Amino acid sequence: MGIVLGIESSCDETAAALVTTDRQIIAERIASQVEAHAPYGGVVPEIAARAHAEKLAPMIEDVLKEANVALTDLDAIAATAGPGLIGGVMVGLVSAKALAMASDVPLIAINHLEGHALSPRLADETLKFPYALLLVSGGHCQILMVEGVGQYRRLATTIDDALGEAFDKTAKILGLGYPGGPAVERLALEGDASAVPLPRPLVGSGEPHFSFAGLKSAVMRAKDSGNYADADIAASFQQAAIDCLLDRLRVALNNRTLPPALVVAGGVAANTAIRGALEGFADARQMRFVAPPMTLCTDNAAMIAWAGAERLASGQSDPLDFVARPRWPLDPDAAPVRGAGAKA
Ligand code: KG4
Ligand code: ZN
Repeated sequence: MGIVLGIESSCDETAAALVTTDRQIIAERIASQVEAHAPYGGVVPEIAARAHAEKLAPMIEDVLKEANVALTDLDAIAATAGPGLIGGVMVGLVSAKALAMASDVPLIAINHLEGHALSPRLADETLKFPYALLLVSGGHCQILMVEGVGQYRRLATTIDDALGEAFDKTAKILGLGYPGGPAVERLALEGDASAVPLPRPLVGSGEPHFSFAGLKSAVMRAKDSGNYADADIAASFQQAAIDCLLDRLRVALNNRTLPPALVVAGGVAANTAIRGALEGFADARQMRFVAPPMTLCTDNAAMIAWAGAERLASGQSDPLDFVARPRWPLDPDAAPVRGAGAKA
């Protein structure tokens, strides 16, 4: 059994965790910067980088102490090396490089999206490759076929906003604060999902891609009209998002041999209504539905350590001069999508 230290600093969570190669999370720390960014209604890159720089080193010391593990006991040090806010990514990656060099332990540079993509296998050892993955977070909205460690085939992506971003913008329009996903979900429980007519962008299109910008604008118009209760807007928005997800998944998996499992990962996977809808979709197709526990859905370091453990098991590590990547597609062979923004 080996131990991997994982480091995450690509957005607004600073996190460190120790995970064993047999799936035990033996120590973890996570610090959210939500309060620091809340006054701005979104993540401010400079504030994020400074906060990571302040918090990360003591956090790493804490997890090692708690587990009574020395740096030299580690089998690898895995850090998010992109995609994400470059200042924050560099704080984590440079720390990992320094520790790896000082202790002569292999460095593993992890694609943050790979962390999300493999996280369900940390929680569930029975989940085998291949599986269909819906990756829905603040920066990404993709459907992938996960065929093995390092083998990801992108079937769909968003041509504009990510779904988490749409939740966050809806929350802002409704005055619910940041981060918006959980707040919109809570308010939606009190609303009528059929009360507000909202569009389902790209539903019916033959390509399985996503678009959420038009939905967000429609939410804004609904709010400005003064005709609808906020809870009804929240519930109708969430239902429109679910309808989009299910239709796009249907198209993405059409005419393919269905993999045995449908997996959801990323921050938006914490949404109970979305999980329920996906479970129904999977059941109808005799696919197993797998969603990691909530704490593994949002950004965390255990998933980065686990992705490191998976890479280590397949004999991979990275050189100490590995350069942080603000953009880093999981499937570099995926054809570019017309209209797709920086986050695709
Ligand atoms: O994966 P994550 O922690 O960070 C990124 O890599 O982006 O995802 C954060 C996103 C935010 O947009 C947040 O609003 C959304 O996940 N989110 C949710 C819920 N919890 C978090 N969206 C909908 N419902 C939720 N319960
Ligand atoms: Zn993430």
